[in-house]
Amino acid sequence: MTGSTAATSIGIHDLAITTTHYAVELEDLANAYGIEPAKFRFGLGQDQFSFPAPDEDIVTMAAAAAKQIIERNGVTGLRTIMLATESGVDQSKAAAVPVQSLLGLPSEIRVVEMKQACYAGTAALQAALGIVARNPNERVLVIASDVARYQLDSPGEPTQGAGAVAMLVSADPALLAIEPAAGVFTADIDDFWRPNDSTTAVVDGHLSMSAYLDAMTGAWNDLQAQGGPAIEDVDRILYHQPFTKMAKKAQAHLAKVTNSALDLALPGEEKTENARDTGLANGTLYNRRLGNSYTASLFAGLAALLHHDSELAGKRVALLSYGSGSVSEALTGIVQPGYFDAEASARFSAVLDARETITIEAYRALHATERSSATDYETERVTNAPFRFAGVTGQARQYEAN
Ligand code: CAA
Repeated sequence: MTGSTAATSIGIHDLAITTTHYAVELEDLANAYGIEPAKFRFGLGQDQFSFPAPDEDIVTMAAAAAKQIIERNGVTGLRTIMLATESGVDQSKAAAVPVQSLLGLPSEIRVVEMKQACYAGTAALQAALGIVARNPNERVLVIASDVARYQLDSPGEPTQGAGAVAMLVSADPALLAIEPAAGVFTADIDDFWRPNDSTTAVVDGHLSMSAYLDAMTGAWNDLQAQGGPAIEDVDRILYHQPFTKMAKKAQAHLAKVTNSALDLALPGEEKTENARDTGLANGTLYNRRLGNSYTASLFAGLAALLHHDSELAGKRVALLSYGSGSVSEALTGIVQPGYFDAEASARFSAVLDARETITIEAYRALHATERSSATDYETERVTNAPFRFAGVTGQARQYEAN
């Protein structure tokens, strides 16, 4: 189904994705823990997860992703950076401040950090659309960057991961023009949260899955009430993906709610008979190797879809966002002509392949290391990324170009 864009469309002009130095193979984790590897590969739909080196965090990933955007688009009109994260590194200072500094961006810029579990990237995107609607000469850098951490030996552990997606929001976007109608839903629920004194999330895993589906239903129904497109007018659907099997569960749920036949096959699975392909499999290709990247997860799905499907020009994509706690939002956008970059999937697959596979013993040791900011320290030099977290001086985090 083909959609149309308004006279001055606003949306995602460019998008870049990055991840960490290390990767954990879920088969290694399963073997080390005496779990059937099929539980992770098929039960969760995950093969690997990204894991940060000691000199990486959400700031270094965010700056690395944003660097690609700045190199391709320059800084003209760039007056705002919004960084969404669940895994912030300071209770007060926005992570977007060191990003501005590392990238050498002009001082005439507003920066802020946004939080609502995995949902905040969508809130940042909405705020960016508003800024550009008010002044179409402005462009906004939206960055979603996260390290998903659960306790060792907890059910959530195989669904950890890390990654960052940077997006340039502008008028007349080259990739995705976002349509005005949005569906929103909020319900106060303790399915997943992280107290101020904890570096890992507290989660009621099975409650979180039903909370996700309920909130998504609420947002979808609100989208319909706001005059958004019916399911048959949506060509591709992307979901927040804490693990890719959750996207399949969400798709099955949406099919039921909308009484429509949607293909439920993840990569390698048999297509659902007489069902419409809405890009479920393509949208999971990066996430099954990144693991959960919280705020970035939905947009990693968007990157995977745009990189693997060359037939999307003029097509409508729905983005269904979820953040525990809980907030959901349903957005739609029209893919723009000329969006397809035939090299992009090979480029990011090479980044994923280049990660260093870490042993389970080394991963567990790193996971268990929690350094206090009370004493100065320097981090060991590990990452090859453009920027690194150098350590702490006078309780302040120090960053540098690599
Ligand atoms: N072969 C194939 N499949 C197998 C298997 C095997 N040998 N063994 C088990 N499975 C399947 C199970 O049948 C199950 O599939 P279904 O869900 O389709 O029934 C799947 O593997 C998982 O098994 P369990 O439910 O027994 O797994 P678990 O209880 O150990 O943990 C989890 C699963 C609750 C999702 C846990 O990983 C978790 O807590 N994760 C973190 C929370 C989370 O991601 N929640 C998602 C919604 S909240 C959200 O989206 C926000 C966010 O980002 C956190």
